[in-house]
Amino acid sequence: MHYRDCSCGALRPSDIGRETTLSGWVASRRDHGGVIFIDLRDRDGITQIVFRPELHAEAAAAAHSLRSEDVVTVTGKVVARLEGTENAKLATGGIEVVVSTLTVLNRSEVPPFPMDERIGHEDLRLTHRFLDLRRPDMASNLRLRHRVTKTIRDVLDTEGFWEIETPILSKSTPEGARDFLVPSRLHPGSFYALPQAPQQYKQMLMVGGVDKYFQIARCFRDEDLRADRQPEFTQVDIEASFVKPDDLFKLIETMFQRVFRETRGVEIPVPFKRMTHSDAMNRFGSDKPDTRFGMELQDVGDIFKDSQFKVFRAALDAGGVVKAMNAKGFACITTGQIEELTELAKGAGAKGLAFIKVENGEWKSPIVKFFTESEKAALSERLGMEEGDLILFGADNWETSCVVLGRVRLHVAALQKIAIDPDRLDFLWVVDFPLLHHSAEEQRWHAVHHPFTRPKAEDRELLKDPSRLAGIRAEAYDIVLNGVEIGGGSIRIHEGDLQSEIFSVLGITSEEQEQQFGHILRAFRHGAPPHGGLALGLDRLVALIAREESIREVIAFPKNNRGSELMTASPSTVDPKQIRDLYIASTVKQKPAPAPAA
Ligand code: AMO
Ligand code: AMP
Repeated sequence: MHYRDCSCGALRPSDIGRETTLSGWVASRRDHGGVIFIDLRDRDGITQIVFRPELHAEAAAAAHSLRSEDVVTVTGKVVARLEGTENAKLATGGIEVVVSTLTVLNRSEVPPFPMDERIGHEDLRLTHRFLDLRRPDMASNLRLRHRVTKTIRDVLDTEGFWEIETPILSKSTPEGARDFLVPSRLHPGSFYALPQAPQQYKQMLMVGGVDKYFQIARCFRDEDLRADRQPEFTQVDIEASFVKPDDLFKLIETMFQRVFRETRGVEIPVPFKRMTHSDAMNRFGSDKPDTRFGMELQDVGDIFKDSQFKVFRAALDAGGVVKAMNAKGFACITTGQIEELTELAKGAGAKGLAFIKVENGEWKSPIVKFFTESEKAALSERLGMEEGDLILFGADNWETSCVVLGRVRLHVAALQKIAIDPDRLDFLWVVDFPLLHHSAEEQRWHAVHHPFTRPKAEDRELLKDPSRLAGIRAEAYDIVLNGVEIGGGSIRIHEGDLQSEIFSVLGITSEEQEQQFGHILRAFRHGAPPHGGLALGLDRLVALIAREESIREVIAFPKNNRGSELMTASPSTVDPKQIRDLYIASTVKQKPAPAPAA
């Protein structure tokens, strides 16, 4: 017996009349008074197989025992479906296979959730991921992910990039998140860090003359999880020598053209639009603006420069701004929704969320009584205010006002259910990010991207002036698709003295520099070429192409939102001897390991 001569997605009307052997899973069974219809499934599709007692009594009798998810091999004849029973939704919907022999390869227990639709609590799906992955939409996501990765590899190979692996047991890279640590048995008391990104290694490859590198790299970050964040995720990590940002932009644009052509079958226009970070913040209140709809933020500080309204007055007197946006046609917002938006604004750092509703020719708002006629006229003109509009204000320092209204903007769009063409693909390069960010809490400067990012040549002088550090722009860029950051990178520092100067601004002493980054500084003193690169978030990219809300849907074995991989029940407790061998002690009393998934 052989298992199959084609997959369950392969047969077409042109195969009618031939004998075939198929193997797969029983997806569903319908008993029509003696005649049994079964949908036989594998990763490539579904074929309807039919058991007719009048033709093949033995096979038909055996078919009575078949249950969902049993694994079988069948042999039979491909026939046309009766007129009117074709299934246009299935690629194989024009035919069925009349089974002459049935072999049951394995039986299945009753699945813990129905297999035909993606229902079931996510934790239950993840515990039984081996079943969940059999569902056609999950198989389709895995196939898509393979196709995307393969296309990316092909493009990079054509462009002369070498795929090179870098260590997983490595030294901590300061990418901003918490590290996962691995204790060393051979060096008691010392730890490896799992890489947050291969950043330092890829730069060392450039110093090593590799010139063009890439890696489909697993990265590890111990941070709070969300729909678009996993503690381990995959980057398409790229670095090249003797390049300018334009060279990298062109490479990525070419790559995305190929990827979208081969997955979605669409031609995306290049070059992608570009927007400076400060424009993105000013206009959309975000460094990853969703440009698929308008509702842009406007500065109205000049209109209210003499305002008597204490909220605006206080912000402007403190050197801040007043920004506003017009949610067209949303004066119908409910009080509950206004409260929801106000809570959201406060969560983003606002002190409140002033608003105006334009209803029945009137401005309904607790604050318009503080406005003069000329202020009203100017505001109305600036925002194009019309009957039915809702105006929302942010008065604060520049950054807070932008960020607050940026979040409010996205939430309003969701509440208003703004219609967005589901096929729309808005690619955007956000460029000229600031180099440094000041943490008021810690009273120190942080690198916005990472400490190896190059300041723009024209801003380099500002490094000498501690009062102007915030104004230094970096040679750094992000790539955004439909409001999702799908990648980011920069041109790097390649000179030891400049790198050391940046480390100092970041508050890293000479001794710490030598201890943590000695290899970088030494390498840069031995002929480092100018270089730069970027990393794409592969999980996010594939999720967007698949139109999935969560990256968990495009990862075979993701962690849940509490960082557990439920199928194998990891993380788990270990044998105390393993811990002793590593010269570590736990301060937590060990709980018994959870029972393995049933
Ligand atoms: P960055 O930290 O911006 O840059 O990461 C690059 C891209 O990786 C994706 N990403 C994530 N995806 C899923 N889960 C996460 N927890 C997660 N964190 C990041 C995002 C992001 O744009 N070394 C630099 C790149 C460089 O400079 O070349 C880096 O790692 O899509
Ligand atoms: P108050 O006088 O504090 O009650 O504020 C009047 C209105 O202004 C309320 O709707 C507040 O939500 C709003 N508000 C307060 N502070 C701010 C701010 N910084 N930016 C925008 N609106 C604010």
